Amino acid sequence: MRVFWMARVSHYFGGYVMLNFHILTLFPEMVMQGLHTSILGRAVSRGNIAIEAVNIRDFTTDKHGKVDDYTYGGGAGMLMQAQPVYDAYQSVVDQIGHERPRRVIYVTPQGKPFHQEMAKELAGEEELIFLCGHYEGIDERVLEEIVTDEISLGDYVLTGGELAAMVMVDAIARLVPGVLHNGESAETESFGDGLLEYPQYSRPETWHGKRVPEILLSGDHAKVDAWRLEQALLRTKERRPDLYEKYMEAHPPVEKRQRKR
Ligand code: ADE
Repeated sequence: MRVFWMARVSHYFGGYVMLNFHILTLFPEMVMQGLHTSILGRAVSRGNIAIEAVNIRDFTTDKHGKVDDYTYGGGAGMLMQAQPVYDAYQSVVDQIGHERPRRVIYVTPQGKPFHQEMAKELAGEEELIFLCGHYEGIDERVLEEIVTDEISLGDYVLTGGELAAMVMVDAIARLVPGVLHNGESAETESFGDGLLEYPQYSRPETWHGKRVPEILLSGDHAKVDAWRLEQALLRTKERRPDLYEKYMEAHPPVEKRQRKR
């Protein structure tokens, strides 16, 4: 069973899908439910992106629907077999009509750690295939044959690749033009410029005895911008000294720049 969402339909209304996500998984409903809500759901129905889940189990040639088996050499746990994974992948290749898609991402704790720059780069692709593993992993031979990138969500182990793939799809999709309403927000938020975001406040002016910083009520946009940059720098220095150092190297203070000349 292939779980398609509305975006395929939007082709027929002249919509142009900027990025097609194909997720090879044993749990298509989990992926589709998670990615069909909120902003991504809206982007899919508008046709900015398309998300399809391909059920690997549909492609097994085993008459009992089995997709896993014991590992050669012994050891605990089962491994996903090469055949159903390869055939699920091949069905996507046949559908998109590429000889070999440019990016096939295997989500695994053994991969390179995912970060915002990677999300930006992947958002420029037209087709992305994600492969989600289960059990003790996937037969190495099929990985060698189809995978172009191995990416990890972080240094911890999840029960399967689906949640990791969903996080990556979300981070990538929101950078696709047209997905966010306010074109600005992807630029000014955390990591947009290498800094964490400054603190923000909404009404009322006083809540639980705490006042909104006066400068934000001043109406002086230049001062507000300067305050926000200062807060972003302070916050980044305190919480993520690694990012702060990188930012300061790329944006040396004026006196330092002059001294260098
Ligand atoms: N699958 C299991 N754990 C994972 C992780 N940390 N990142 C990506 N995929 C995974």
